[in-house]
Amino acid sequence: MSHKNIIVLAGLSAITSTFLGVAFADGWDPKSQAPNIESIVKTRHNLTVSYSPYGTEMNAYRNDYREVCVYCHTPHGANSKVAAPLWNRTINTNQYTIFDKARTLNQPIGQPGPNSLTCLSCHDGTISPDSIINMPGSGGYNPIMETSNDQAWLDTWVTSGKGAGPAPGLNRHLKLDKVPSPTSCMACHSPGNAFNAPDYTVFSIQTDLRDDHPIGILFPQNAGEPGVDFNKPTNVTANGKMAFFDRDGDARPDTDEVRLYDTGEGPEVECASCHDPHGIQSGGSGSGTKFNPSFLRVNNGIVDNGTPGTAGIVSNTGSALCLTCHDK
Ligand code: HEC
Ligand code: HEC
Ligand code: HEC
Ligand code: HEC
Ligand code: HEC
Repeated sequence: MSHKNIIVLAGLSAITSTFLGVAFADGWDPKSQAPNIESIVKTRHNLTVSYSPYGTEMNAYRNDYREVCVYCHTPHGANSKVAAPLWNRTINTNQYTIFDKARTLNQPIGQPGPNSLTCLSCHDGTISPDSIINMPGSGGYNPIMETSNDQAWLDTWVTSGKGAGPAPGLNRHLKLDKVPSPTSCMACHSPGNAFNAPDYTVFSIQTDLRDDHPIGILFPQNAGEPGVDFNKPTNVTANGKMAFFDRDGDARPDTDEVRLYDTGEGPEVECASCHDPHGIQSGGSGSGTKFNPSFLRVNNGIVDNGTPGTAGIVSNTGSALCLTCHDK
């Protein structure tokens, strides 16, 4: 850890020690301030962290663009290198280490598809969460950001005076890499940290996907047939790009329904098959209920971990998500 960072971190410790004793607001991560209700604005995917009274603590580590959607989407000048909706983020064009364990059906598996690369652009720990192509306001567009996590460009946000961000030149647009280091969010968000910040190391995805559920994997085309332990998707969209398990019989791929993405190789499992990054009402749309834990499209049976705040999550049967695809 650099000298400079130790000073900054020690300074923050005095401020953050007052966090101890704050009431828990969340069900499945007792340290979270995110209420996980209504919209993405009140979840951890709001990187302005405006839902937390301590949001400004983050300003020395990532640009505060003051807009929730802009960390991922832009109305114009979106990333042309990835087939994701109006994608404003830098994409990792390097190769991932893919799932290599024994598989019953041995379905073909490849590199993550677009509907995983979006998530991995933050969660693999190689790209700063504030690494975007189009910053809010005029003059904030830079196409090299499609594939480059350029720290000097990210510094122009704070020097332009449009909002808060790290002091320029210190490589302080941190990343979600697993090992705590001065360039990692885990400098604070690791077990037993002095800042009482939630621990993010446990679920750090990284670029080695061997310990994660296979993604970029073809769904068995003979699902539903005898001896094949998979359910057959109920519907396919008219353009053929998505197969899905319709829960309410409206023949549309609703956000609370598990889907498979076809980007040219047939229907595949990707991160967004199981997760919706905007959050899903556990009681169905329009119900005002708490979101399913972990941005899951279908609650996998997480009801109560014994801490205050879980009330309000409507539970499906245990393993409901897994059993949507797997017939076990
Ligand atoms: C110097 C320590 C420090 C560093 C480095 C740091 N954070 Fe934080 N973070 C905090 C503190 C303290 C909080 C306030 C706790 C809270 O709101 O739950 C916080 C809160 C958050 C929250 C809201 C958590 C919640 O559920 O309430 C998110 C999201 C977050 N940080 C993301 C990041 C990201 C992404 C990075 C790296 C770009 C990062 N943090 C780097 C200290 C840090
Ligand atoms: C943390 C990243 C992130 C943020 C922040 C975010 N989105 Fe998204 N959004 C995504 C991803 C990823 C997809 C593509 C999901 C997929 O692969 O199907 C998406 C898809 C969409 C879609 C296409 C339909 C759908 O639901 O798949 C719309 C519309 C959308 N987002 C709107 C918004 C708006 C409006 C905001 C701000 C209020 C926002 N998003 C914030 C990541 C984000
Ligand atoms: C702009 C950066 C960014 C993008 C893009 C992004 N995430 Fe996140 N996500 C975060 C941060 C920061 C956190 C909080 C730290 C953590 O849990 O790793 C988080 C948290 C999560 C959590 C834990 C939620 C909780 O309440 O505990 C899940 C699950 C998740 N993300 C899944 C996804 C998936 C799936 C995608 C793609 C569809 C995605 N994320 C895209 C930044 C991002
Ligand atoms: C087959 C379904 C499935 C796929 C595909 C999948 N996930 Fe998950 N993911 C889950 C489930 C279920 C959990 C909750 C695990 C738990 O709480 O024990 C989870 C948890 C997470 C978490 C941590 C949540 C937390 O509460 O801290 C993150 C981050 C995450 N997933 C991101 C991703 C990313 C990124 C991808 C693609 C590389 C992905 N997931 C692919 C099902 C899936
Ligand atoms: C979107 C559909 C889908 C969902 C949801 C899903 N899986 Fe899978 N899963 C697959 C596919 C496809 C394979 C690859 C099968 C193969 O090649 O044999 C797979 C493979 C696996 C494997 C590797 C072993 C094997 O026999 O292939 C395990 C273990 C597994 N899934 C567990 C889970 C669990 C646990 C959940 C719930 C958290 C889950 N899956 C949710 C589609 C899914």
